[in-house]
Amino acid sequence: MEIVERGWDDFWAEIFRVKHRRSIPGINEYDEMIVDFCIETLGLSPGDELLDVACGAGDQSILFAKKGINVSAFDISERLINTATERAKSEGLEVNFFTGDMREVEFPRRFKGIVILSHSFGFFNHEENQHVLKRSYESLVDGGRLLLDLMNPYNLPRFQKTWTKLDRGYLLSEPHVIDATAGMLRGRPATFIDVEAGRIVLANEDALSNNDIRLYTALEIRNMLQTAGFKSVDFYGQNKLPRMPYTATSGRMVVVATK
Ligand SMILES: C[S@@+](CC[C@H](N)C(=O)[O-])C[C@H]1O[C@@H](n2cnc3c(N)ncnc32)[C@H](O)[C@@H]1O
Repeated sequence: MEIVERGWDDFWAEIFRVKHRRSIPGINEYDEMIVDFCIETLGLSPGDELLDVACGAGDQSILFAKKGINVSAFDISERLINTATERAKSEGLEVNFFTGDMREVEFPRRFKGIVILSHSFGFFNHEENQHVLKRSYESLVDGGRLLLDLMNPYNLPRFQKTWTKLDRGYLLSEPHVIDATAGMLRGRPATFIDVEAGRIVLANEDALSNNDIRLYTALEIRNMLQTAGFKSVDFYGQNKLPRMPYTATSGRMVVVATK
């Protein structure tokens, strides 16, 4: 069987973010739940401006738009943004989707809310991660809020090897590895057995290293947000309503920072 390597857009974006994500049982209900949580926690009303950072294929951005929120959303993957744009169009929804890097995108004093969902924070070195928070701060109106939905570093999921059947073949995902001294969750190696094309598809080095996540504790993230200029920082233990206090055993660490 032929073996080929693919980069971020071809492997990760298309196979993982679009095909694999949509095959997860209950994913639509999960998205509904998280969107309702964000709207209530950020105090958003129809017509308010929201920025969805690292929006992937726009699953949540489209739901926010359905609920009357004025959504701008971006991702580094052009492939995902094209998919998201097509989906919004087919549903007759207006979402301002664009390709961009969270280290660079900034809209001075524009948004009432900014969301960074599914632990899409911590991809870079510490200075760049700090810079992402500063960009968010600058893009919020006074009193606006940034919501980060992160893994709880004290209660990480039990990562396991999984096989998923997709339309063309089978996806094998290896467990994440925790690099304790670096405080990093290392990218999850994956292999796609493309039965239709008769080949094995591997993620290349770039696609893998792009997937590392720095795991910050609540204390660290509070310091970073205060350094970025935020006035107050709150923590919650789940990304659904009702809002629960954050503890060492919480399923998530949701951070809400107010400008
Ligand atoms: C875990 S996914 C989350 C997608 C979506 N927010 C969700 O909850 O389903 C992480 C996303 O971050 C995007 N990403 C990675 N680096 C980025 C960067 N520098 N700027 C913007 N997006 C980035 C990836 O392309 C991917 O879609």
